[in-house]
Amino acid sequence: MVQYTDELKEEIRSANDIVDVISQYVSLKRSGRNFFGLCPFHKEKSPSFSVSADRQYFHCFGCHKGGDVFTFVSEIEKVSFKEALELLAERAKIPLPVSENAEFNKTQYLKDKMYKVNAETTLFYHERLYKPLAKIAQDYVKQRKLDNNTLKAFKIGYSGEYNELYKYLKSKGFKDEEILSTGLVNKNDRGEYIDRFRKRLMFPIMDVSGRVIAFGGRKLDNNEKVAKYINSNENLVYSKKKNLFALNLAKQSDSKNIILVEGYMDAISLYQRGFNNVVASLGTALTEEQGRLLRRYCEQVILSYDSDGAGQEAIMRGLTILEDQGCDARVLQMDGAKDPDEYVIKYGSGRFKLLVENAISLVEFKIKMLKNKYNLENSNDKIRFLKEITKILSSVENKIEREIYIDKIAEQYNISKEAIYAEVNKATYNPKTAEKALIKPVVKKEKEVEISPAIIKRENMIIYLLINNFRESYENIVTNIFADDFKLESNKLLFETILNSEVEESDKILQLISNIEDPEIQSHVSEILVTDYEINSVNKCIEDLVNTYNKERLTNRKMEIIQLLENSSSLSKENISELEKELNDIIIELAKRK
Ligand code: GTP
Ligand code: MN
Repeated sequence: MVQYTDELKEEIRSANDIVDVISQYVSLKRSGRNFFGLCPFHKEKSPSFSVSADRQYFHCFGCHKGGDVFTFVSEIEKVSFKEALELLAERAKIPLPVSENAEFNKTQYLKDKMYKVNAETTLFYHERLYKPLAKIAQDYVKQRKLDNNTLKAFKIGYSGEYNELYKYLKSKGFKDEEILSTGLVNKNDRGEYIDRFRKRLMFPIMDVSGRVIAFGGRKLDNNEKVAKYINSNENLVYSKKKNLFALNLAKQSDSKNIILVEGYMDAISLYQRGFNNVVASLGTALTEEQGRLLRRYCEQVILSYDSDGAGQEAIMRGLTILEDQGCDARVLQMDGAKDPDEYVIKYGSGRFKLLVENAISLVEFKIKMLKNKYNLENSNDKIRFLKEITKILSSVENKIEREIYIDKIAEQYNISKEAIYAEVNKATYNPKTAEKALIKPVVKKEKEVEISPAIIKRENMIIYLLINNFRESYENIVTNIFADDFKLESNKLLFETILNSEVEESDKILQLISNIEDPEIQSHVSEILVTDYEINSVNKCIEDLVNTYNKERLTNRKMEIIQLLENSSSLSKENISELEKELNDIIIELAKRK
């Protein structure tokens, strides 16, 4: 194993701005000194995830995860700290000392070549689309109403005949192994190399960062005997479960939601008509990984499946996966066209936009499906329908949300609001859980004595000042405040770490602290670093802090003396008079400070 030096680590850190890195996963909005967004580590609907550009730290006030850019990448990619460092080195194109692990190096090398093969192939197909021999493909894109900007944006292409791609790639110097591992060319029984995609309209599939990882190829005739699409098989660089077509484009959209469609053509067609927030799944049902991926880029996902294609089950599963990731998931209702592409061509983008705006939630979708099973003109059916929707509505935990649904449903299905409320209340009131809630004891951890928020804030400010304003604050703090003054263990440790170190610059101190490998400490540090303590004058701030501590010390001593004097029988006369004098002085001193 190679060990990376601290210098290298710092080089990588400073080449990867934390706001840029986190923005690849979370949509961040600036607010004052910091950036805010929805925490990628726990489910939440309002943002408590904060990133400090000045301090290069993140912290979530909801789940208390926090740390520097390395911590973030290792947590989000679920990799070790070392792997996070390697990913960030790659991102910043900083060369790393070569690993001694030959197998690992070989795989890295091959992957790198595969990306290059894919990139060359994209170019080859795309340029070929504009040649006279591609008339059939040109006619086809015209018939599908794709304009040239769209062809360029998606790098759409036309694949060759027999082994044209193979020959081209060889001429570019790629080795057989590198070409074969992309699956773009296969070797047959007779040892001949044959292109996988021939005379098809080619859609490059890109990963989030825009690297081509696979291809989808559509047939150009109506021959029933051949598959409409041929797609790349999975390989070292391509997993269809972990990627989404056009996400590299959609992630740049300012839109608050992402529209998820089934077909490449749907995504492309909508994009051309102004919807730059569309992605397509890759011929499989939506996976959990894709759900997570979507959640990184937006809060709301609109499922826009083909009107005939996907069954109700698939939609339900898709919505559930997205909701489990903390997305606001909706499903778009479409009539009069088989898929989004046909719809937007037939009715225009204005009408499609309305469909997006009127997309319904999982609860509404379930109720709509239920309604199809009953004839609401029939009163028996209506009662059964009411019982069934009660079940669905009772599962909505948020009371306000539930009330909105009830109002909507009452109006839509012509059922009295009161009747629905009565049923739902009956169902949500469970005597067992109600009782439990009442007698639930409040257990406090024995060891941990409650430390007041004011004290924590005060201590945090001291640490904050030592990190951010070391030169101005150091002398003043160390002569007046001591390690034993700290109540919170984390703060005490940080205080001692800073004081015992030789470093004197904020940046160095920050490095020192970010190397403490204790998640609890990191979480605490990140909270301090992203908090705005509104310090206008460092000196004034320290003066106030020192005064508070001094006053507290005096008050404590005062209480101590009073106690001693109360049990004065064991004290000598001299002692008593000394204590009385001290007490007197303290009272005067405290009065002065008021
Ligand atoms: P058009 O029919 O040209 O409008 O294509 P589309 O993109 O709308 O595709 P469609 O809705 O028919 O299918 C949705 C997705 O399923 C496609 O984008 C492909 O990823 C996949 N798919 C469709 N047909 C095939 C097939 O024959 N084989 C494979 N492997 N995948 C397919
Ligand atoms: Mn279609």
